[in-house]
Amino acid sequence: MVKSGVTCIVLAAGKGTRMRSSLPKVMHKIANRSLLQHVLVTVEQLAPQQTTVVVGPDMPMVVHEAGHHTTVVQHQRLGTGHAVKIALQQMPRPEGPVIVVYGDTPLVRSQTLANLAAAVGPAPAAAVAVLGVAVAPESGFGRFVFNDSGDLTGIVEMADATAQQRALPMGNAGMMAIDGNRLGVLLDELRTDNAQKEYYLTDIVGLAVNRGWRATMVAAEASEALGVNSRADLAVAESQLQARLRNQAMANGVTLQAPETVWLSADTELAADVVVGPNVVFGPAVKVETGVEILPFCHIEGAHIAANARIGPFARIRPGSRIGQDVHVGNFVELKNATLAEGVKVGHLSYLGDASLGARTNVGAGTITCNYDGYLKHRTQIGADVFIGSDTALVAPVIVGDRAVIGAGSVVVRDTPADALVIARAEQTILPDKGRTYHQRKAAAKATQHKPAKAD
Ligand code: UD1
Ligand code: MG
Repeated sequence: MVKSGVTCIVLAAGKGTRMRSSLPKVMHKIANRSLLQHVLVTVEQLAPQQTTVVVGPDMPMVVHEAGHHTTVVQHQRLGTGHAVKIALQQMPRPEGPVIVVYGDTPLVRSQTLANLAAAVGPAPAAAVAVLGVAVAPESGFGRFVFNDSGDLTGIVEMADATAQQRALPMGNAGMMAIDGNRLGVLLDELRTDNAQKEYYLTDIVGLAVNRGWRATMVAAEASEALGVNSRADLAVAESQLQARLRNQAMANGVTLQAPETVWLSADTELAADVVVGPNVVFGPAVKVETGVEILPFCHIEGAHIAANARIGPFARIRPGSRIGQDVHVGNFVELKNATLAEGVKVGHLSYLGDASLGARTNVGAGTITCNYDGYLKHRTQIGADVFIGSDTALVAPVIVGDRAVIGAGSVVVRDTPADALVIARAEQTILPDKGRTYHQRKAAAKATQHKPAKAD
């Protein structure tokens, strides 16, 4: 990817006290991806020259989550302006736009950030562009102040606002872009003479205007400004993101029969003409190819499902599963780390774990792989065109050759050669007439049984 001239700074030093969690706030997940990762994925789409994440002290998890991006520790949380300043100190002076985003605002779109970046540049272009959303009168967002000619002149934090300012209609979403050549001087002018005794990044708007530089507002949808500060906010963000992901899937040609009941992960890949029934949950790392039908109440994670397979209802597909073309996985079937080649049928009530099955193999109802001996996991390898009778237990490690036939109820403990018929169960015993005498004896015993008198 060609680097754009943009530099990104992600602020994530807050502990997020209101989450009441041992996890740093930005590590909480929506659609199975951390808040920080959502922001980083969005920012990456701009192909920035550099991305720096500002973290708090003692946040090794956040540093780890930042991956290959530079992290800077803000030892004292002196405000958003201070956080940007220490990030800037660790990098060569940026020439292009610097985009500042908050790690707890996961729904912002990359196009919106690109619009912000495009709105700033060397004078006479604007020095600062801030993202604005229409806000309710009681909301906590900082408010934009415009002069009589409609120019943006500053941002006032709610803690410092007059009653009149608190009623202003446009709120600061928190994200902004600043001309890299002018950011340093603006940050140097920040002071802490405000209600929270913090260096407010938002003050750079007023400072720029005082210097005769232009500041501008870019408008965004309210959902993009959703900042997560509590578990309730997290739930709202989750539901808005789910709606977005479902709409995206449908726009890509996926049928969701009851969209509001389908749970997606941020990385779920569903090809065109996949049909998903009601109440299906997609965990992380699922890829589904075209023509696949997923019937109601399936739980699927870490799986690749090839074209035209039919899954469910009530199937559980766990990580490491690779399902071939035209495979049928029926009700109450659990797969884990299992590879099913094309045309395999496993219709009912089975557990296949750490297993591979060759093409067109048919697995009878109730078949299980015994993959765990109490200490270690072992593999079961089954060839192509095998017929496995119902209620078979395959005790791993074990190999079943191509075209073998396993009698129902077998406990298979030894490798089976190709083309063999295996029956591994107790011989059937037939005792003529014994059934009739059994019934007579039992019926007589019941008839003579003492019945306690009914209490009345
Ligand atoms: C900020 C804005 C406000 C805006 C709101 C939108 C300022 C001064 N105010 O207020 O105008 O409407 O966001 O959600 O910027 N952080 C650090 N280090 C610090 C302080 C904050 O990394 O020293 C990080 C936090 O972890 C968080 C982000 O910066 O991710 C915003 O900080 P927060 O304290 O939530 O600011 P708000 O009061 O919400
Ligand atoms: Mg906040």
